[in-house]
Amino acid sequence: MATKPLAVLGGRSAEQFLTEFWQQQPLLVRDAFPDLGSLLNPDELAGLALDDTVESRIIIERSPIDWELRHGPFNETTFKNLPRTHWTLLIQALDHQVPAVADLLGAFDFIPSWRLDDIMASFAPVGGSVGPHFDDYDVFLVQASGQRRWQIGQHCDDSSELLPELPVRVLQRFEPTQEWLLNPGDMLYLPPGLAHYGVAENDCITLSVGFRAPSEPEILDDFAHFLLPRLKDSARYQDQELALQSNPGWISPAAVTRMSSILLQLVSDQDQVSQWMGEYFSRTKYDQNPEPPEDDYLDTEVLDLLHANLSVRREESSRLLYTGDAHRPQRLFVNGETLPIPPMTHSMVLYLCKNRHYNPVNLAMFCETQENLRLLTQLLNSGVLYIEEDLYQEDED
Ligand code: SIN
Ligand code: CO
Repeated sequence: MATKPLAVLGGRSAEQFLTEFWQQQPLLVRDAFPDLGSLLNPDELAGLALDDTVESRIIIERSPIDWELRHGPFNETTFKNLPRTHWTLLIQALDHQVPAVADLLGAFDFIPSWRLDDIMASFAPVGGSVGPHFDDYDVFLVQASGQRRWQIGQHCDDSSELLPELPVRVLQRFEPTQEWLLNPGDMLYLPPGLAHYGVAENDCITLSVGFRAPSEPEILDDFAHFLLPRLKDSARYQDQELALQSNPGWISPAAVTRMSSILLQLVSDQDQVSQWMGEYFSRTKYDQNPEPPEDDYLDTEVLDLLHANLSVRREESSRLLYTGDAHRPQRLFVNGETLPIPPMTHSMVLYLCKNRHYNPVNLAMFCETQENLRLLTQLLNSGVLYIEEDLYQEDED
């Protein structure tokens, strides 16, 4: 798989992309997604912006130094009163709302899914943009419809100056180095910190496949919360080899070394860190569990549905991860919880974590083993997986 040329990467292999581009330099791919055609329309996005369970924003450019930010949910009057040009509607986590958009994620399977944040959609009429800015994370910008002119510029960091007192992060200084007009299906990958500026040439929809990279404060804070209830109060600082010191007010380097070795030991326990990572990264974006089905499925019903070739999908906001060896999972993580992996279920666990849309024939084969059937039924009954009304159709690949 590593050396296979991928159309989504312009014929490069995933291995080549990871070595030469990921987190390093931008990449433009023409026609990365040739069939996006009717995936989305602006009315659908506007409709989602009325929904109070969807995170939406509107950014209006009043002038190059005057930007307005509004948070949804919006109503129909909001859209009637928008200017004709120079605004953008942003819908976060569109992949949670539209299964066909979630299916695009399969094209990015060469990046671990725990690094993925969501797919954000933007709609803009001519002139619409969110201003020249930089992001702290990697992003693949996929042009879904219309055209957008993208410019990329300098590398930025915390010291890069932003326009003062604005609700959006617009760079004070933008130094374009390259420019492209993106047509439907084209894709631009940008590494973190690279200044970019995309302006709609006409009504256009752009999808941002965004990755997540927690900050050091977030990592330490969350890991500490995970670890604290697991520590024993009786495990204490010890200094049996205490040396006499001339000033009792001195915290000696030896004491500092003893203290830092306690801290190091706490944060370097691989088993704890891997369980924390599984729980942390498998939490859903909005920390909400999926809706369970109205009635629990019985094992026998699940088998009947699989034999009837009905599609099984992962609920779009749900995250499934595992730790252990690549081919021998040790722990399964489902939406922030650690689930024990029953014996005999390893292959099915790998299959569930790898895909988002499951072939009922494969599942039925797994479910010849009772443990697999029980686990599958449990995941269906918690709403993490669901049965679609449609018959299963193999994804084109
Ligand atoms: C947009 O789609 O307008 C903004 C996406 C981005 O710059 O990250
Ligand atoms: Co950006």
